Amino acid sequence: MKFVDYATPPITHREAQETAGSALREGAARLAPVTETARLEAEVLLAHATGLTRTALLAHPERPLTAEERARYQDLLARRRAGVPLPYLTGRAEFFGLEFVLTPEVLIPRPETETLVERALAWDPRTVVDVGTGSGCVAVALAVQLPRACIYATDLSRAALRVAAMNARRHGVADRIHFLQADLASPIRGPVDLVVSNPPYVAEEEWASLPESVREHEPRLALDGGPGGLRVIRRLLADAARLLRSGGALLVEMGAGQGLAAVALARTTFPTAHIRIHPDLAGRDRILEVIL
Ligand SMILES: C[S@@+](CC[C@H](N)C(=O)[O-])C[C@H]1O[C@@H](n2cnc3c(N)ncnc32)[C@H](O)[C@@H]1O
Repeated sequence: MKFVDYATPPITHREAQETAGSALREGAARLAPVTETARLEAEVLLAHATGLTRTALLAHPERPLTAEERARYQDLLARRRAGVPLPYLTGRAEFFGLEFVLTPEVLIPRPETETLVERALAWDPRTVVDVGTGSGCVAVALAVQLPRACIYATDLSRAALRVAAMNARRHGVADRIHFLQADLASPIRGPVDLVVSNPPYVAEEEWASLPESVREHEPRLALDGGPGGLRVIRRLLADAARLLRSGGALLVEMGAGQGLAAVALARTTFPTAHIRIHPDLAGRDRILEVIL
């Protein structure tokens, strides 16, 4: 007689019955080797795959997944396991309380760059240049907070400028940000009140010790600051000297160990300026401020 196990449904039936709850348990287990926030990331990826909010998924763990949702979720889990940073998978990141669209062609906005925005806001400028705008996070956050300001935002990368322009439209500030594909601020005529920049500042010597997720997945053009990490900052100082009005200011993000070298460079370009370093929230050297 043929034995039929009624307690175990056929595989296809079982897959069709996969629920949000079981998918989250499986996802958290699969991501545990690559991240310390495996459960949270599984929730974010399942929300992305289903188009539901995390709250809805957690409130209804019994909700079955469709075959398409399951396939999308499995693909996201596989790419996350391969080291792709979460924001590139969802195409979204939060910065200064705003949501930004991302592609792998732009740097993922970092919390320490919010210090740059805070320092810039303290100047209440009318004309600002954001050099190396990437996703546009700094320029857009400033435009949202400073409704009377006119902002120029540059990048060498045309792909980055497309993302930045999308973010400016998303937040209703596209009419006040002029995006330019340029080396530093070369096409802009001053005088302006403020130059801000989060330039590439990873020292060539430190490249190998960067986390693999950064080295392998974020754009090298956004990170590589050449020997010592100050190649772009050095050139930016000269450009700022040409652009800034008397009494204007330059704010530049830099690496935690670059404070002394950055101050020395700034002193050479601006012998009479007021120069200081502001720490980030973790207390590390982060922002070079030069006041003319
Ligand atoms: C560290 S990312 C910063 C992106 C964004 N502002 C942020 O804070 O997330 C540096 C950006 O500068 C751009 N960049 C690099 N060299 C440049 C140059 N010489 N002139 C203009 N932009 C440059 C890169 O393409 C990249 O988008």
